[in-house]
This record gives sequence, C-alpha cells and structure tokens, in this order.
Amino acid sequence: MALSPPGTLGIDFGTSNSAVAWRSHQGAAQLIALEDGALAMPTAVFFNSEQQRTHFGRDAVAQYLEGTEGRLMRSLKSLLGSPLLHETTQIGHEQISFQDIIGTFLATLRERATQQLGQIPRRVVMGRPVHFVDDDPLRDAQAEASLREAAQAVGFDEVSFQLEPIAAALDHEQRLTRESTVLVVDLGGGTSDFTVVRLGPDRMRRAERSSDILATTGVHIGGTDYDRQLNLSQVMHLLGHKHQGPDGREVPSRVFFDLASWHLIHWQYQPRAISHAKTLRSNYSDPHLHERLMRVLTERHGHLMAHEVEQAKIRCSVSRAETTINLSLLEPGLQALMGVNDLQLQLRELLARTVACARECVRAAGLGNASLDAIYLTGGSSALSTFQVALQAEFPGVALVEGDLFGGVAMGLAVSR
Ligand SMILES: Nc1ncnc2c1ncn2[C@@H]1O[C@H](COP(=O)(O)OP(=O)(O)OP(=O)(O)O)[C@@H](O)[C@H]1O
Ligand SMILES: [Mg+2]
Repeated sequence: MALSPPGTLGIDFGTSNSAVAWRSHQGAAQLIALEDGALAMPTAVFFNSEQQRTHFGRDAVAQYLEGTEGRLMRSLKSLLGSPLLHETTQIGHEQISFQDIIGTFLATLRERATQQLGQIPRRVVMGRPVHFVDDDPLRDAQAEASLREAAQAVGFDEVSFQLEPIAAALDHEQRLTRESTVLVVDLGGGTSDFTVVRLGPDRMRRAERSSDILATTGVHIGGTDYDRQLNLSQVMHLLGHKHQGPDGREVPSRVFFDLASWHLIHWQYQPRAISHAKTLRSNYSDPHLHERLMRVLTERHGHLMAHEVEQAKIRCSVSRAETTINLSLLEPGLQALMGVNDLQLQLRELLARTVACARECVRAAGLGNASLDAIYLTGGSSALSTFQVALQAEFPGVALVEGDLFGGVAMGLAVSR
C-alpha cells in the first residue's frame, strides 16, 4: 500500500455514532463510506462467542438483535476518564481492557478509510467534547490521553485533537456566504457542546482563528441520558423499579439505573451482579416482577430494552404522537407507551441544564440574543423536538438552522488543521 501524500483524516469517535472524513492537501473534505455506503456507523462492538469473531457498527447491533450468543459493547466513549476503562473483559480466550476494545474500533475505522482511500492515512485529527468528564480536569485530561494512546497504538503517526463544536462550526462555515456570529450546538449521545464563533468566507482563509472563537461550553448530558431517564420512567417499572416490597420500601434502584445506562448494561450480566439481583427477591411483593428482572439479566435483554426505548424516543420526537415500546421479545404481549408529554416532563430537567449551558456560552462570549445571526444545530439529539422548543424559548427570534446531524463534526475535523 502506498504511503499517503499530505492529507488529514478527521475522526469523530462518538458515544453513539462515529464518522470519518478525509481532506487531501488543500482539497475539500469528504466523508468516507464506512459500512455499505453509510457515512456514519454506530460506535458498537459485538463479540460473537460462537464463532469467536468481532463485529463492528450496524453489523454488531444486528448480530445482537438477532439473538446471536455473544457480547455487545456500546457507549465506549463514556468509559474514557473512568477507572472502568482499564478493567478487562473476557473476549474469546483473552482478557481485554476496554481501552483496547476502543483501539480495535479505531483500527477498524482506519482500515476502512485505508480501503476507501487506497492509501494509509498518517495524520489524524480526533474530535473531543468540551468536557469528557464534568468538573474534573484531571480525569478529563486522562480521557484525552487514553484516546490519544489508542489512536497511536493503531498506527497513526500524528494525532491531534480539536473540540467537537469547533469542528462543527468549521464545517458549517464552508457553506456560508456572509459573515455571521453563530451559536453552534452539538447534541450527541453523551455530551452537549456549544461554541459561539465568528464565521465567514473571508475568515475561513485565515490561518489563525482563535480570536474568532468567542466562547465554548459543554455539559456531560446527551441522548444516552435521555434514554436512561425514559427507560426508568416508561419501562423499568415492569421489572420492579419503584415497586413497594412487603416492608413498604421500594426495591433498591441501583440495578434499574445500571440496566438503563448504555455503558453499564454489560456489567449487569456478570455472575456477581446476577447473584446480587437474586437477593432482591425479598424486596418484592410481586414475585412475577422479580422473575422478569432475573430473566432480563440471565437472558441478557438489557441492550434490547435500551434500544427499544431509544427508537421510541426518536419515533415520538419525529411523529409528535404517542408510540408503543414493544417488549414482546422479553415476554409475549409486553409493551409500554411513550408520548410527547413524557418527553416533555421526563426530560425537562436534563433539557433545562442543556439550554442553560447554551445560555452560559453566549454570556461568556459577552453577547445577547440580538448579536446572534443564527443557531446552528448538529448531532443526533439536536433533532429532538422538545429540545428545539426549549432552545427557541431561551433564544426567541434567533433562527435555528438544522445541519448535518451525523457527519458535520468529522468534516470539520478534517479541515481544521
Ligand atoms: N431524530 C432524532 N431525534 C432525537 N434524537 C435522535 C434522533 N436521531 C438520533 N438521535 C439520538 O442522537 C444520539 C446520537 O447522536 P450523535 O451520533 O450525534 O452522537 P455522538 O456523536 O455519537 O455522541 P457524542 O458527540 O456525545 O459523543 C443518540 O442518542 C440518538 O438516540
Ligand atoms: Mg458527536
């Protein structure tokens, strides 16, 4: 394989989805098809224990949903900056750390980019959220260092980082015809990031852009947190969440929280967690609910439930109508409901904190609403109808511009250096 001429690969390693873009020397950036022509792929790894093979992306999710024996890992990015990153898990005959599993995912992205480009990309700009970890600079720095190490270990020679919202802004700028001051909003699966920037065709040509970035803020809240909250409010009662036991006390809620958190589901299937769940039997008045909890754990249905909740969230947001969460794979006829009212009520606090972070960004930039030309929306969760309503209420009269939900950050990374 030929060595590459100068060019930059942008990798948006997302909590839920990843995308990759390439910019050859001075050319325009282009997204790289990662899976059957799709330009973004789920950040998912599935280890098939029958065939001892590892699958990635849509293929990984499909294997899991088809009921193949094995192990699904999602939201790997949420482990960066946490001690869990260095815990190992049995994959085939080996014990592998989650850091190395992130490495195998990055290696797959690199391999697919190499196939598409016909050359080995050497230089990579990786995206990073404004905060991997809120209010803990040390763990935040560790998170970036771990991601850098993983990228170096798979063979990239030159690894640099760019903030995800700045990358999104640089991508948006490629299409602007006049100078604008924009609040860029990137709502993903794990984090919500904001930046206020001055953008424009003339500014784009300048080498030094730091004075155009007026402020950045970020909060560790994203679509996977919405999924957790909706899972707890709409579904987990079917397993005993908030169920009163014979002594009048509720079943301890930890197991429901963990089962509803994409990056923690996997740990609930470990023998230790299952033994603990068995001991909860005496906390239930209705044994049927406890049996259901045990079935979910022993038959490993946690990801399926989270997947159904996520799909219902998206359906409900798009159709603005009540939708059914189908859980019949768990038990014939079992279902739950989700309506727009539930999205509003259950996500109110998370969305209020997210909108407050957007406001903080504009305040830190020293601006008021009147100085903003537009609010540019990117990231899958920015499509959530209740978020857009809350954001527009905070910034009345400022135009919301919907951008590329899944590819913009990778495109901006590729043009950012
Ligand atoms: N139409 C939609 N309405 C609401 N949410 C959506 C929609 N489509 C996707 N999502 C949510 O968007 C999230 C994924 O967005 P995205 O791919 O931008 O995140 P990410 O880049 O992987 O995460 P992060 O940037 O936080 O690391 C998921 O939580 C998904 O449920
Ligand atoms: Mg993202």
